[in-house]
Amino acid sequence: MKKINRQQQNHAHSDFYIRRIHSLLGIVPIGIFLCFHLLLNSSAIIGVEAWSSVIDGMRSIPFIIVAEIGVIAIPILFHAVYGFYLVYLSDLHPLRYQYYKNWMFVLQRITAIITTLFVVDHVIFVRIMAHTTMDVMQAMAHVLQTPLGFVLELIGVWATVFHFTNGLLTFLITWGVLHGERVQRLASICTMLLCGAMCLWTLIILARIAMMPI
Ligand code: HEM
Repeated sequence: MKKINRQQQNHAHSDFYIRRIHSLLGIVPIGIFLCFHLLLNSSAIIGVEAWSSVIDGMRSIPFIIVAEIGVIAIPILFHAVYGFYLVYLSDLHPLRYQYYKNWMFVLQRITAIITTLFVVDHVIFVRIMAHTTMDVMQAMAHVLQTPLGFVLELIGVWATVFHFTNGLLTFLITWGVLHGERVQRLASICTMLLCGAMCLWTLIILARIAMMPI
């Protein structure tokens, strides 16, 4: 049997912990933030005034920038940087993948790249460049009112939703919550149903914003 030295052993240990931190951050706080973010923006379904007062409320929380950087930006940055390293390490040849699980593995990585582009675009145009509540609403509405803008926004949001829901499944497997082939297959159906429900939910939010007279 091949012996490994102490340095290789330490390396394997630190890899294990970094992978676990990466995995945990995908749910706490990033996944939780994603769900709250969608929930708050569901106010757009009610109408312009409801959505505007929710955005006003979010923007007027004292020291919100500290929470945004500490609880959202730094965890996403860590997850994304290590995530890119994992994408780089992956052997991505889809034609070699004939099994459902392998396709999900490839899709998790493809959606990671789309999510990165989407999040960077979203933060620049809706958070950094938009200074008032009206700027935020107009930035979103104007993009969604063009067919190309709507399709690109939908691809970004749906890729993020898939990455999160499929990630929830792999998270539960990684942390040893789901044991056995049957339980994992059932959980996979549940997370894909959740993915479908969240895709429909986000489609309604985006369509409602696109119809706003702003
Ligand atoms: C809204 C943003 C994001 C959320 C909610 C999220 C969530 C998750 C979750 C829950 C997992 C599963 C962890 C596990 O299997 O234990 C995961 C995995 C992964 N994420 Fe993200 N993520 C986000 C953004 C990103 C970004 C921007 C990247 C950039 C590369 C990325 C790259 C990855 C990769 C490569 C994996 C697979 C890890 C593996 O198979 O071991 N994620 N993500």
